[in-house]
Amino acid sequence: MDEKSQASGGTKSDAANVKTGVIGVDVGTSRIVFAEGPSSKETESQLNAFVSVPYSKMAEDVLQQKHMVYDRNGKDLYVYGNDSDFFASFMNTVPRRPMSHGVLNPQEKMSQHIIRDIFQKMLPRARKGEMLCFSVPGKGEGAAANLVYHEAVLKNILQSFGFTAKGINEGLAVVFAELQDENFTGIGISFGGGMCNVCVSFMSMPMITFSIPKGGDYIDKSVADVLNETSTRVRLAKEETLDLGRQPRDEISSALHIYYEDVLQTLIARLREELEGSRHLPTLDRPIPIVLSGGTAKPGGFQQKFEAMMKNADLPIQVSDIRMAKDPLTATAIGCYVAAMAETR
Ligand SMILES: Nc1ncnc2c1ncn2[C@@H]1O[C@H](COP(=O)(O)OP(=O)(O)OP(=O)(O)O)[C@@H](O)[C@H]1O
Ligand SMILES: [Mg+2]
Repeated sequence: MDEKSQASGGTKSDAANVKTGVIGVDVGTSRIVFAEGPSSKETESQLNAFVSVPYSKMAEDVLQQKHMVYDRNGKDLYVYGNDSDFFASFMNTVPRRPMSHGVLNPQEKMSQHIIRDIFQKMLPRARKGEMLCFSVPGKGEGAAANLVYHEAVLKNILQSFGFTAKGINEGLAVVFAELQDENFTGIGISFGGGMCNVCVSFMSMPMITFSIPKGGDYIDKSVADVLNETSTRVRLAKEETLDLGRQPRDEISSALHIYYEDVLQTLIARLREELEGSRHLPTLDRPIPIVLSGGTAKPGGFQQKFEAMMKNADLPIQVSDIRMAKDPLTATAIGCYVAAMAETR
C-alpha cells in the first residue's frame, strides 16, 4: 500500500464505493460537484482547495483526532476538500487552489495531485468503461491555449479510475440540466468563481460557446483591493448578506454592487458581439430562454439585475424569458450527468 492510501483517513470505504451508473462531474475553480442522478439531492460537493503543513507526528495526530481527510506526500501533509476551509482558519492562513480562472493553475505545482485526491475521495469505483462527463470551460481571454491541456489532464486522471471520460462545455451542461422541455434550445450561463461560461444551444448543439475571465474571485479581489480588505472577508460578506435588489448599506456592499455590474456588463457585451459575429446561428423561429446558474448568481436580486441590464442589451435575437436554474450550485454537474446518460443510450 502506498503512503497516500494509508494516510487518507476519510476515504470512502469499499462498501460505500460500490455505486454504479453514469456520473456527471463539475470541475469548478471553487468547487468540484459530483452528480449520480438528475436531481440536486443526488449530488455531492467538495471545495477545490487545500492547505499544506510540514509533516510531524503531532500534526498528523491532530488531523486524525479531528477526522480530517488528508494526504501525506513526502515532507508535507495536505488537508483538502471541504475540510480545507476550517483548517485554513485554524492555521490562520488561506487555502491554496488547484485551479484558477476555470483551468489548472500553472502556478500551483500540487494542482493535479490534489484534484486526483478529491476525485478519489468522492468517486465510486467504475465498472470497466462506465461513462463520466465532466465540465470544461469555453474559450476566452487567456484560457484558449491551456484549455487543451486542462481537458486532456482531467480526462487522463478520470480515465485512470476506470471511467470513459468526456469533456462537456459548462454552458451546454446548464442547457442540458434546465432546458429539456425546450428541446435543449436556449442560452445557458454559469456565473462561477473563476469565470463565467456561456453557451447558445440549438437542439442540444452548441452554436456559440465562450467564457469571460471574470467571476466571483474577480469580484472578491477587486473589492478587497479598492477597500484594503482581505478577499476572505469580502467573500463572506458577499455570500452571507449581499442583496443586489437593495440599496447598498455600507462600503463593501456598495463596491460589490459596482463589480457585479462590471461582470454582467462584460458578459452581456461579449454575448452581443458573439451573436452579431456568428455565422453558424440557425434562423430561430421563436424567442429562446436564458438560464442563469452558478454560485455567483446566488445573491438576492441577481436575476432582476440581469433582466434590467438585458433591457438595454440590444441582442440580435429574441429572448422569451430569463430564469434561474432550480439549484444554481448543482446545475452544471446535473447537466454533465444528463450528457453522460445520453452518451450511453
Ligand atoms: N450565496 C452566495 N452569494 C454570493 N456568491 C456566492 C454564494 N455562494 C457561492 N458564491 C460564490 O460563487 C462562486 C463559486 O461558484 P461556483 O461553485 O458556481 O464556481 P465554480 O464552478 O467552482 O467555478 P468556475 O465555474 O468559475 O470554474 C464563488 O465566488 C463563491 O464566493
Ligand atoms: Mg462552474
